[in-house]
Amino acid sequence: MKILGRSIGRFAVRPGAHSTGRVSGWHISHLPFSRLLGKTVYMTEPAVNRLRALLDPMPASMDTSHGYLDLLEARHEVPDTITQRLMRSSVVPVIYERAWRPLLGRLAKGLTGPSMAGERQYVRGQLRLKPGHTVLDLACGPGNFTRDLAGAVRPGGLVVGVDASPTMLARAIADTLDHPEVGYLRGDAERLPFADASFDAVCCFAALHMFGDPWAALDHMIRVLRPGGRIALLVSHRPESGLGAAIGSAIGTASGQRMFGQNEIHDALAQRGLTDIRQYITGFAQFLSASKA
Ligand SMILES: C[S@@+](CC[C@H](N)C(=O)[O-])C[C@H]1O[C@@H](n2cnc3c(N)ncnc32)[C@H](O)[C@@H]1O
Repeated sequence: MKILGRSIGRFAVRPGAHSTGRVSGWHISHLPFSRLLGKTVYMTEPAVNRLRALLDPMPASMDTSHGYLDLLEARHEVPDTITQRLMRSSVVPVIYERAWRPLLGRLAKGLTGPSMAGERQYVRGQLRLKPGHTVLDLACGPGNFTRDLAGAVRPGGLVVGVDASPTMLARAIADTLDHPEVGYLRGDAERLPFADASFDAVCCFAALHMFGDPWAALDHMIRVLRPGGRIALLVSHRPESGLGAAIGSAIGTASGQRMFGQNEIHDALAQRGLTDIRQYITGFAQFLSASKA
């Protein structure tokens, strides 16, 4: 297809060994994952155009040769913790949705915490999603929540999955073939590349505690949320006292993740002017949601 390597407006499609065709005027990229799975990975024109419209500042060019918009340099710096290394590995993204996340989630939430289906129901409900809404799924991993959120904003909505890990995003797009209202972008949570008030809702699950600067990321999430929009977070929880406090601290040390105190995120949301804050603590996990005034 002639479109490869051609500049379309301000959107430059980089020539790549894996790029082989196009759909609806945009190129198709065959990725290692998609070859393994026998699938074709592509970005649809509506998703790309809508995603582009949210960017600020607009980059001079964007690499799409891997099937997602890549706004990070190849060797982007993230904290060098064991958890971050696992997120960038080639193995964890493959087993993440079916095994890794349900298992570690259960250990963190405890026996009485919600199932994965319960988490998805919680997010949809707390974000108060409607057809046509534009949603940010920050630290989307392999798109396990991104795809579900897309079902709640259909028709006419858009869910943008952002993650820093190329292997997680490769898995995400390989699994998102039948969701034209989903777009993926490789970016840093601590400097989100979107215009103010771009999103009706923001979801950031199981990630804030692994960011180098969670407060910068929280500021960006609130900045890109429109007034009246909802934010939903799943973060770590360190019990205040007893055996739980000791175990919580040990988990933090072993994993390199921050263990947030019971009031830390709640107070951070309140200090930033958010209202209608709801919090649900279960085991070493806490769910929070809030509205931007
Ligand atoms: C545990 S996964 C969460 C995936 C999904 N949200 C969930 O709840 O299952 C955490 C994700 O955060 C991403 N991540 C870590 N630091 C990041 C950063 N600074 N910017 C964007 N993504 C980041 C990792 O690559 C990983 O995919």
